[in-house]
Amino acid sequence: MRVINTIHSLRAYINSIREQRYTVGLVPTMGAFHEGHLALMRRSLENGDCTVVSLFVNPTQFGPKEDLEKYPRDFNRDSQLAADFGVHALFAPTASEMYPEGFQTHISLPKIRSRYEGEIRPGHFDGVAAVCAKLFNLVQPQRAYFGQKDYQQLVLIQRMVCDLNFSMEIVPVPTVREPDGLAMSSRNAYLSPEERAVAPRLYLALRQAAEMAEQGEHKSAAIEEQAVHFLAEEPLIKVDYIKVADAEMLEPADLGDRPAVILGAIRIGSTRLIDNILLK
Ligand code: PAJ
Repeated sequence: MRVINTIHSLRAYINSIREQRYTVGLVPTMGAFHEGHLALMRRSLENGDCTVVSLFVNPTQFGPKEDLEKYPRDFNRDSQLAADFGVHALFAPTASEMYPEGFQTHISLPKIRSRYEGEIRPGHFDGVAAVCAKLFNLVQPQRAYFGQKDYQQLVLIQRMVCDLNFSMEIVPVPTVREPDGLAMSSRNAYLSPEERAVAPRLYLALRQAAEMAEQGEHKSAAIEEQAVHFLAEEPLIKVDYIKVADAEMLEPADLGDRPAVILGAIRIGSTRLIDNILLK
């Protein structure tokens, strides 16, 4: 596996790959690899793509009071995992390589950035959009792989790729979970054993909400209320939101013929967890 730290050497590598007519698959990450990240890499490798994984804890998507400093980082472990997995190249730039002095371009998707995660984390999705646009331009992949775990991020990226005419396909990959249902996340490492024990309640609440919908409840408010109530029974959990939305545009919606998603975010101590379930 090639480890690449500069934009100059990334461009040279991508040029050589394209000359050999390989398709390129990009897996953007912030490291601290778990089975969720590996599922994206696996999917890219199965598609036969020359697989470029980016590992960059992007400072512009963290708010001033968020966990940028304490975000888990273990480059040696991550690069070993990626190499063992068969990844072709790992792009791990520094912050000054990605954002040299004078950088000022801003990409904002106003509807998506104002809802759910965007409302609670102002600026977060602008940071995600800009770093992904840069990575797409640098790597010029045929496909980029994103997890459904971060559903709003996936919709944001799909919208941006469509709006800005990036010539590539976004491949969604289903959420990988622990045996008790908790969605895998780098942030799970922050949970104390006591907190970890109650964390699967988010997925349970979403499952119950999905069942209610499957049994014919159409009103989003009733479904959301039940899930919030179930979560609030656990004193360690603070609910940020439980929302039913249209799966494509992410507008709040009652259930009808169109695909919908139930999005949830909670806090346990100082750790934020998000999850979602798609309704057919
Ligand atoms: P990160 O949180 O490292 O996630 C990288 C990718 O892994 C994302 O597409 C995310 O949705 C996916 N992922 C995380 N947990 C998953 C799980 N349990 N199952 C399936 N996929 C999972 O998301 C980011 O980084 C950043 O915002 C990034 C897109 C890299 C931009 O900086």
